[in-house]
Amino acid sequence: MKALVTGGAGFIGSHLVDKLVEQGVDVVVVDDLSMGSVDNIKSRDSVTIHIEDVCNEKFMQELLQKEKFDYIYFLAAVASVADSIERPSETHEINHSAVLNTLEYIRTEKLPLKQFLFTSSAAVYGNLPELPKKENSRVDPLSPYAIDKYATERYVLAYGELYDLPTVCVRFFNVYGPGQNPSSPYSGVLSILTDCLENDKTFTLYGDGSQTRDFVYIEDVIQALWLITVQNARHQVFNIANGYESTLNNIIQTYEKVAGRKLTIDFAKGRTGEVERSVANISRLIGLGYSTNWSMERGLTKYWEGVQHEAS
Ligand code: NAD
Ligand code: UD1
Repeated sequence: MKALVTGGAGFIGSHLVDKLVEQGVDVVVVDDLSMGSVDNIKSRDSVTIHIEDVCNEKFMQELLQKEKFDYIYFLAAVASVADSIERPSETHEINHSAVLNTLEYIRTEKLPLKQFLFTSSAAVYGNLPELPKKENSRVDPLSPYAIDKYATERYVLAYGELYDLPTVCVRFFNVYGPGQNPSSPYSGVLSILTDCLENDKTFTLYGDGSQTRDFVYIEDVIQALWLITVQNARHQVFNIANGYESTLNNIIQTYEKVAGRKLTIDFAKGRTGEVERSVANISRLIGLGYSTNWSMERGLTKYWEGVQHEAS
């Protein structure tokens, strides 16, 4: 079995690559290292890594033709809502056009394929009042990021139905854990919080901290992705989350307790285009055999212990 993981040097991608290698899959990574790092991939010696832009159509087509992948996991993206607001057009090329071009090439060349998995986001749900979010809840994408994710999902599913391709989409909620890069102001909040607690830096809190998110630990996410592959799921969307709603204030308190440290906080105006409340209904995923193993406290404890271990 051969798999392509775009964005495989990133946070979620690198954990997925390690899981696939552990399962005996031959893995090829395409990543331009704009956010990721080859060092994130523990199994890097067993993996073929191309440092390339997924928007390079010629490169992608030659790779697809040469390798005839069984599985394609499309994770390469501008992964930040705020970043997409700064550079909407570039985001669109990566988060939408590159995916569509890949599918179109597979369709026109009739390449064999067992599964094409596209990674979408809870951001598509926006601020509509219905909670928890089900896969068939109404959507209200508020940012270039969310608009591209939703449009791409629709294409991926339509290509599946119209051209009988084995496509599937996931909507990650807020994933956290080791390997998330904290270096950009647009990085995931838990990587920034970790960096602030670890290095005694001031944390900027946008808004009053009452915004909520459904934080899911990386190991549960990898469990879910693997289940979707082995169960051969297709033509559907799956929420991947923990199923619990936490305020940012609550996360900060829990993390301070876990780390045994006090965070210094600067309050700033809330970010525009943001979702206020987010929590998932995960029944569809549970139907595939998923169970959450990582409560917020347990996940944060493992994350923090790992950071401490690396520092020592
Ligand atoms: P990440 O930034 O760590 O990983 C994305 C990877 O894609 C990085 O390694 C980056 O270098 C690479 N990349 C970016 N542009 C590229 C390009 N043009 N060509 C090749 N590689 C490129 O982010 P992540 O958190 O691992 O997110 C992975 C996927 O999951 C993304 O599609 C993201 O939108 C989605 N997602 C993430 C979360 C989350 O909470 N982390 C939630 C919802 C959806
Ligand atoms: C995150 C993901 C996005 C995903 C979405 C799904 C990242 C970078 N973003 O977006 O890919 O699609 O979940 O729900 O992984 N905050 C601060 N201070 C900071 C950073 C953030 O207060 O320094 C706040 C934000 O304003 C926001 C909350 O923390 O209210 C979460 O922010 P962030 O981690 O960027 O996540 P989302 O925007 O939810």
